[in-house]
Amino acid sequence: MQRDGALTSLWQHKMPEYISQAHTFNDEVFDVLIVGGGITGITTALQLQKEGKKCILAEAHTIGFGTSGGTTAHLNTFMDNSYAQIEKDFGEDNAQLLQTAAREALELVKKNIKEYNIDCEYGEQPGYLYSQDEKQTKELDDIYDASKKAGCEIRYEDKIPVPIEFVKAVVYEKQAQFHPAKYFYALAKAFEDAGGVLLQHCRITGVHEKGDHLEAESFKGKIHARQLIYATHIPPGVNLLHFRCAPYRSYVLAVTLKDGNYPDGLAYDMYDPYHYYRTQEVDGEKYLVAGGEDHKTAHEENTEECFRRLEAYLMKYFKIDKVAFKWSSQFFAPTDGLPYIGHLPLNPDNIFVATGFGGNGMTYSHVTALVLTDMIVKGESRYEKLFDPNRIKPVAGFENFIKESADVVAKFIGDRFTKVKIHELAELAPGEAKVVKYEGDSIALYKDENGGLHAVNPSCTHINCIVGWNSAEQTWDCPCHGSRFSMDGEVFTAPARKNLEKINLEKLVE
Ligand code: FES
Repeated sequence: MQRDGALTSLWQHKMPEYISQAHTFNDEVFDVLIVGGGITGITTALQLQKEGKKCILAEAHTIGFGTSGGTTAHLNTFMDNSYAQIEKDFGEDNAQLLQTAAREALELVKKNIKEYNIDCEYGEQPGYLYSQDEKQTKELDDIYDASKKAGCEIRYEDKIPVPIEFVKAVVYEKQAQFHPAKYFYALAKAFEDAGGVLLQHCRITGVHEKGDHLEAESFKGKIHARQLIYATHIPPGVNLLHFRCAPYRSYVLAVTLKDGNYPDGLAYDMYDPYHYYRTQEVDGEKYLVAGGEDHKTAHEENTEECFRRLEAYLMKYFKIDKVAFKWSSQFFAPTDGLPYIGHLPLNPDNIFVATGFGGNGMTYSHVTALVLTDMIVKGESRYEKLFDPNRIKPVAGFENFIKESADVVAKFIGDRFTKVKIHELAELAPGEAKVVKYEGDSIALYKDENGGLHAVNPSCTHINCIVGWNSAEQTWDCPCHGSRFSMDGEVFTAPARKNLEKINLEKLVE
């Protein structure tokens, strides 16, 4: 199983590539084209297919390539944005509605596992949230009150499952965990068995209206569909939602413990960014899976340092035997704390989107499946207003800004660099990278372990911010809206649709 970075997540361990069934399609018009083969796209596609819609799912790489392959797979009914905050910003009724949606989402996971008999190490777990100082304790009490009002099964508890000092703790009942890749592989197969078409290595490069339906250009030809869902973590192209979501990276270690003292439950502290813990058994081996050290994408100079800080923090409390896996992953935090699920702003009504899940992707992926299936099949969802992507109106002139931005292509005059000059600029050790400037132009250079130089134009193909090197995952990451690219410029993560311009060093003048 592949992922959008150099490090290997626990979920990739011993997971082979998903092999899609052979599909042919010509000019037929599908009911729904789902773009993106992560847990959101696959779960939604299956729901729609089961409801009688003829669906086609297109994934640019392989299924689970994005954040679904790098999640820590906590299934929660409480979110990064607390019920106290939701109640304050959206009112008590909406906090209740959110809780109901989250509970329904977790029920859908359970139902899928049962219906398709999926062996994915699923287990219901209590979820502990604990305070460590007076300020956090006051906040925890507010969260408890608001969660209770929202309908959560919550109680105070005097112990937590991690050996960390705390002041006060609450427990949310009936949270859960699973092996995400085993789960979404099974759902992908169920989707195909139900008649759905699943295409891997099929990037959608453009979409336009054609008569009464949409026509999408793809690596595998034209795809026609009446409705389209962008389940690409963040929609591609230039869209209002890119200015309503901020990309973050989070860091995870899966470690074995000398004393076997693995947490019996899910646990979260209240720092910002917070640490999160759980235990996962994979193929008979137990791991403590712990995460944290979140930062805005491309805002950390040395991403290896984030792993070191996380490990040092864990070593204070746990007897680590070995770090078996370490990886990082991206998430998009919505500006007002709720995800955007519904009609894609400033687009025809038959184009839908799901984004801004924060650190709650496992839950919101299933909320998406419920909301969009109802919107498409029944024409409405009870949660439609709560998650409406159009709830924040664009400022005047935004539509023009989008049109202009979409046409901007970075003009790069790479041929001005001589090969000699580039080697002069690139005082890099193997494995290092940097963006160098020369006479007003920039060039992104990476030297691989064999001393080979890889050069790309650092101007992001979304709207031209300058990418930064992610040393841990060996990718070029964009600080503006989170696009990510391989060392050779291949686009890994939307919103960019195009690769970074590759600079062919062989062609440059000696
Ligand atoms: Fe928007 Fe790079 S992701 S400019």
